[in-house]
Amino acid sequence: MPRTPDPVATSVAGGGADSGRAVSPAVADGRVTDASRVPYAAAAHVAADGSLGIRAAGLVFQNPIVLAAGTAGYGRELEGVIDLDALGGLVTKAVSLEPRAGAPAPRVAEFAGGMINAVGLANPGVEEVLRCELPWLARNLRRARVLANVVGFGIDDFADVVARLEDAGELDGYELNVSCPNVKAGGLEFGADPKALAALITRARGRTTRPISVKLSPTLPDIVGSARVAVDAGADMLTLVNTLPGLIIDVDRRRPVLGFGSGGVSGAALLPLGVLATWKVTRAVQVPVIGVGGVASGRDALQYLMAGATLVGIGTAAMREPRVPERVIAELGRWCSKHRLKSITEIIGTLEWPQ
Ligand SMILES: Cc1cc2nc3c(=O)[nH]c(=O)nc-3n(C[C@H](O)[C@H](O)[C@H](O)COP(=O)(O)O)c2cc1C
Repeated sequence: MPRTPDPVATSVAGGGADSGRAVSPAVADGRVTDASRVPYAAAAHVAADGSLGIRAAGLVFQNPIVLAAGTAGYGRELEGVIDLDALGGLVTKAVSLEPRAGAPAPRVAEFAGGMINAVGLANPGVEEVLRCELPWLARNLRRARVLANVVGFGIDDFADVVARLEDAGELDGYELNVSCPNVKAGGLEFGADPKALAALITRARGRTTRPISVKLSPTLPDIVGSARVAVDAGADMLTLVNTLPGLIIDVDRRRPVLGFGSGGVSGAALLPLGVLATWKVTRAVQVPVIGVGGVASGRDALQYLMAGATLVGIGTAAMREPRVPERVIAELGRWCSKHRLKSITEIIGTLEWPQ
């Protein structure tokens, strides 16, 4: 069943598809007084509906909060727990060409700064996702946007998964997880290899007209450089950041707590890294950014927005407490009212850097 347009989308986007290049009324009206402080990503890619509605890469989100990849499965897992359709959107768990069993248990562990995980990109593979998961999303989500998180281990894998998912026609866009090893070329992470990064994005780009976000790792030696490569190759958005490699040791057993050994660190510890990456990248490239890492409150989300993000992802905090995303949306609404803002877009990129 085709997903119906969001009423916000109709009012904001004039009911039709657009290039996402419209100037925000908030900015165009001059309500953001010092436009020079607003990164052009914000000025050029958002549109306001007078509240929390926001536009990114031609898609209209009813609010800026999305569930981060891999932390909400394919949505079905949260049925009856939260109202998914009240969120801005959901990024699915990874989808690979073939099914992946993933890493041995235990796959996640908590620590004071957040969580460490080694799930190993476990997923049922693209055919099963098409058969079982996307139909559920199509039946149940009308207003929340859905991006499929795509993973590959060779350059063509990404384009092949996108091409298969295009058959379903029910997704709003894609998020390419390029923080995984290019197994077919020595194991260097795609995001850290400009040639491979450009090639995989160009190929995926050729298989869809829907928006593509490219998700980068906080470990990249030059995240701004990688972001530029991604945008030049056709990325419509960037997602910043993925997890950070780490190791937690169970000292009684003298063994890693995770079955795989090392894992990816997420949660509170990532917040300042993600905010800095967002600030650096949004000043350098002209596409919207989904800021992810460590968000657990409205004030955390505001940090990403002020740093220049257009959307904000929540993962670990929502795994711990599924109602966190709804609470963050409510807190953003209250903050806008308290500060007499007509639109959340007025906050984007308004960080004032010390001179
Ligand atoms: C259990 C778990 C599974 C994840 N799986 C994926 C995944 O499949 N693809 C991906 O791009 N990121 C994945 N991530 C990374 C998150 O999407 C997000 O970038 C990261 O956790 C930082 O956000 P947070 O601090 O709000 O959790 C996963 C994170 C966790 C904790």
